[in-house]
Amino acid sequence: MKRVGIIGVGKYLPKKILSNRDLEKMVDTSDEWITTRTGIKQRRIVAKEEAASDLAIKAARQALKKTGIKPQNIDLIIVATITPDMQFPATATLVQNRLGAKDAIAFDLSAACAGFIYALIVAQQFIARGTSKNALVIGSEVLSSITDWQDRNTCVLFGDGAAAAVLAEVKSGGIVSAYLGSDGSKTDLLMLPAGGSRLPASRQTIGKKLHYIKMEGNELFRLAVKLMLEAAQIAIKRAGLQAKDIDLVIPHQANVRIISAMIKRLGIPREKVYLNIQRYGNMSSASLATALCEAVEEGRVKKGDYILLDGFGAGLVWGACVIKW
Ligand code: ACO
Repeated sequence: MKRVGIIGVGKYLPKKILSNRDLEKMVDTSDEWITTRTGIKQRRIVAKEEAASDLAIKAARQALKKTGIKPQNIDLIIVATITPDMQFPATATLVQNRLGAKDAIAFDLSAACAGFIYALIVAQQFIARGTSKNALVIGSEVLSSITDWQDRNTCVLFGDGAAAAVLAEVKSGGIVSAYLGSDGSKTDLLMLPAGGSRLPASRQTIGKKLHYIKMEGNELFRLAVKLMLEAAQIAIKRAGLQAKDIDLVIPHQANVRIISAMIKRLGIPREKVYLNIQRYGNMSSASLATALCEAVEEGRVKKGDYILLDGFGAGLVWGACVIKW
């Protein structure tokens, strides 16, 4: 089995900023409530003509540029998204075509906020076994398209964005360990009820606002802390390490209080955690990807560092991996 690592990262965030103050004018909320309950100060929102593939392509081009690999030499493209351009075909095929990655196989992966970590581990298997020599893994979301902008319980939480990572065989380091989990008994905690084959779009589903995110925040909060902690502990153990050996934790950015509770139990100090939730809110699969990209850009990740990626989302699905940079 080949050793697989991340050799380049890139991101794209839409230009439009929606601040907490802007939201105060839209729903009964306050900057103070959003900041203290979630850690979010602002989020990005796509322009009218932008869809998930547009964001994904920009992030992918930036990541590829860092590696010097041309699109035509990419073997595999996985787009993790819950807000694809269309139900089908896969957003990954749209990305493949517009990038000119004509030899790549391309498919989408649906694992909500854990989508990027799931896609990383899937791509790792392809490369480790020699099925692909490299892979482009992208988390891209336009959550503003499935957000009820009249529901203060959810509309303050989400944002749009994309980030990408290029994976290939590496001589040293790379993905050292991983753990993924799923629990389909709790789907009702977070879902988009209509628009699939269970409840196809109709006047009634639109009237009942069933094409927007429905969420049970409190229960999810408790489960996110528990399952992200468990995933982190298992991934660290599988890497043959202890929590103190981790140089930087890059968690899914859903709520700063979830992250604080999780790292406290893990025994990792705040200085070793990367946060960008204040700038972008929760971008589902794009959150972890963007946080990784920015941590690299800001020099928070150095060669030889052990970093822990840790995600959790609707499904439920969750997972963590340790990467030696
Ligand atoms: N502004 C002001 N008040 C609000 C707002 C708002 N935007 N939203 C809710 N409130 C009110 C509620 O109505 C409630 O009022 P009440 O006590 O009069 O009924 C009060 O604030 C407290 O509400 P809670 O839901 O208890 O607030 P909590 O502190 O739990 O925070 C939150 C809610 C932020 C949603 C939190 O539960 C959370 O982050 N949950 C986890 C979300 C998550 O992890 N999602 C999974 C990943 S996302 C994915 O997969 C796409």
